[in-house]
Amino acid sequence: MANLRLPMLFLLLLSFEKLVLSVDAEKYSRRDFPPDFVFGSGTSAYQYEGAAFEDGRTPSIWDTATHSGNIYRGNGDIACDGYHKYKEDIQLMAETGLEAYRFSISWSRLIPNGRGPVNPKGLEYYNNVINELLKHGIQPYATLTHDDIPQSIEDEYEGWLSRKIVSDFTAFADLCFREFGDRVLFWTTVNEANIFVLGGYDWGAIPPQRCSRPFGIWNCSRGDSSLEPYIAGHNILLAHASAVRLYKKKYQGVQHGSIGINIYTFHFVPFTNATEDVIAAERAKRFFIGWIVDPLVFGDYPEIVKKHAGTRIPAFTEHEREQVKGSFDFIGLNHYMTSYVTDKSSSLERNSSDFFADMAVQMMVGDVHGDTPPGEYPFEPSGLAGILEYFKQFYGNPPIHIHENGQRTQRNTTLNDTGRVKYLHGYIGSVLDALRNGSNTKGYFQWSFLDVFELVDGYESAYGLYYVDLDDKDLKRYPKLSSHWYSNFLKGKTISLDFTLNIEKSTYHFSQ
Ligand code: FCB
Repeated sequence: MANLRLPMLFLLLLSFEKLVLSVDAEKYSRRDFPPDFVFGSGTSAYQYEGAAFEDGRTPSIWDTATHSGNIYRGNGDIACDGYHKYKEDIQLMAETGLEAYRFSISWSRLIPNGRGPVNPKGLEYYNNVINELLKHGIQPYATLTHDDIPQSIEDEYEGWLSRKIVSDFTAFADLCFREFGDRVLFWTTVNEANIFVLGGYDWGAIPPQRCSRPFGIWNCSRGDSSLEPYIAGHNILLAHASAVRLYKKKYQGVQHGSIGINIYTFHFVPFTNATEDVIAAERAKRFFIGWIVDPLVFGDYPEIVKKHAGTRIPAFTEHEREQVKGSFDFIGLNHYMTSYVTDKSSSLERNSSDFFADMAVQMMVGDVHGDTPPGEYPFEPSGLAGILEYFKQFYGNPPIHIHENGQRTQRNTTLNDTGRVKYLHGYIGSVLDALRNGSNTKGYFQWSFLDVFELVDGYESAYGLYYVDLDDKDLKRYPKLSSHWYSNFLKGKTISLDFTLNIEKSTYHFSQ
């Protein structure tokens, strides 16, 4: 209670203090970014569309997991009902000023059996979405699979664990390029190739929920955490490379688009100055990022990964190496947090290993400094510039799209999402810092446009610029403070600490 009686001036000073951004670019506008740099926001099919059993769609591995009654909270059966409400949402996107929208295509909506007959209703839906976006001057950025391969393929040959997926994924990609590629100019093959594999085959926390003891985080009824992550990762790289090859050979010349893959990135920082921790932070990058990106840029897995994983990691044949190397026009990065790293070389002495034991580090994420509001991500914007610098230096500055970045908050609390406003101010400023240091970053997509079904927390956490009222039968959307902030930025307002503070002072509550 005492806090409530603090003089207003003191409160303002307090908020100013909280607004120290730790990036150079604290005051900026859209015009400070190159004109061809694109700003957008995103969602993904399972998290947004709903209509899970409608118009011929069949279950994906996400549907199966959320309906298995284990660790998931809720499901995407209805989600934001984007399947029916996309027009209204695209209208909102246009009003917000989005230049681009990143969405994903549900493979099992388009090809219900995973391969074979195409679902005309699926085609119609994505054509409608793409046309509606373009009608409003918003560029569609499509991801082919955002963690949701068809269950039929999982059942038939265990999905990413089999090489058979390479031809099925390529056929699905072919269909998408053929049907939508005249209008979609930016394609991403796979979302978060690295963390999807670790979550799905090492921890067993996300679909297809495979793992083995002692590595998995739940009951691990099937899987092999030592081996399968490396196999699934390998097949993802091969499937990605095959789709890219097809795109380049058959479509790129006429459609003039570009294609890449997406990975999840932490900014890895040594927790202490001790040499082992400094080396450990480098090793974390080699494993977490290099495992997927090195083959694409250099044609092979990092030496340290091969050394620690031994025969558990598949070796590229000469032919595969040629296919994979250089198979991208850009790399997509999702970034939310910095991770502090200490050495844990002792894990190399275990009898059995998983990816993390092979990496031999202890990663600390979350409220390491003890100043993060409950449920939010720590505010460390310079981490984003740090990663972009790493890509510049280590990988020769390839084109980068920041596909996801945003602040997590608890859902259903307030529309006054000051934490998200501050986060966006800082992290977009950090991107500008990176550009001024020569980074080849081409775009930034805030996650997420609306509060969607979140992959881990269901409807308990939220990242949206717009709140979706799940208690309302029409799932009404409400703008949060962050949508005003982002919209102002997109429409050319100069962003400064004062500006952000003034936005933060608006009073804007559910009860009003
Ligand atoms: C990423 C996912 C995205 C979203 C955010 C919060 O890992 O790609 O779908 O759930 O986390």
